[in-house]
Amino acid sequence: METVIEMKNVYFQAQNQEIVHDFSFQFEKGKTIALIGPSGSGKSTVLKLAAGILVPARGDIFFQGHNIFAMNRTQNLSFRKQAAMVFQDSALWSNQSLYQILELPLKLHFPQMDKQERDQRMNDVLVQVGYRKALDVRPAQLSMGEQKLIAFARAMLCDPNLIFLDEWTESLDDASVQRLVNLVWERQRNNDSIIFVSHNYKVIKHLADYIVMIVDGRFSQLFTREQIAQDEDMAQHIEKRIAL
Ligand SMILES: Nc1ncnc2c1ncn2[C@@H]1O[C@H](COP(=O)(O)OP(=O)(O)OP(=O)(O)O)[C@@H](O)[C@H]1O
Ligand SMILES: [Mg+2]
Repeated sequence: METVIEMKNVYFQAQNQEIVHDFSFQFEKGKTIALIGPSGSGKSTVLKLAAGILVPARGDIFFQGHNIFAMNRTQNLSFRKQAAMVFQDSALWSNQSLYQILELPLKLHFPQMDKQERDQRMNDVLVQVGYRKALDVRPAQLSMGEQKLIAFARAMLCDPNLIFLDEWTESLDDASVQRLVNLVWERQRNNDSIIFVSHNYKVIKHLADYIVMIVDGRFSQLFTREQIAQDEDMAQHIEKRIAL
């Protein structure tokens, strides 16, 4: 098994509170792993730690064997180009237009692209996610669902092969969920590595190779797709935990 992200004895604290406790896991390259657990159990925190966005109090995080926090600038830029994240709250810059928000990652990671190429790429991705409205508006003018679509489009722009998705189907209508699920499915066929958080059991069952349950900031249980498919009790147990 090839590991894309390894978390080793990771602890995270905020305001003197321990939020993630001794979390270790090897995320397999080319697989899709769903993080599940009750509200407030630490899923978003673990996802952001895995993506190198939060700095652990203790422990290490490796991307393909390289310590994320010991990379030089070039290695870091390469990691950032390959990895992309959809945040639970979408995290779009409130003082920028959608056009500016989408243009930035392309300008950063593909400096040789001209405006016409960037516009074409943006348009392609926006069609894929199903966003058809104006780009000269600010995020506050969008619904939560539309913000999610833009956040998803931003994540896909640079053609990442390591994708972190946090509650990425929340606030979306069924057709949009289906569209995004199809896009993730295409990524799976492309052998990309996907780590996602979701409360949507149908989405989890459809996409996840493995499910990691997190309870009270700790690794709790690991389930495989086969286990869930075969064991109705376990499927129900998981569905119940997600519903919490
Ligand atoms: N920066 C912070 N300061 C203080 N507390 C924090 C901080 N970040 C997270 N927490 C707390 O840590 C716990 C875990 O938060 P986290 O957002 O990771 O949970 P979650 O499992 O993603 O929850 P949800 O399902 O509601 O999205 C929560 O109790 C939260 O209030
Ligand atoms: Mg969360």
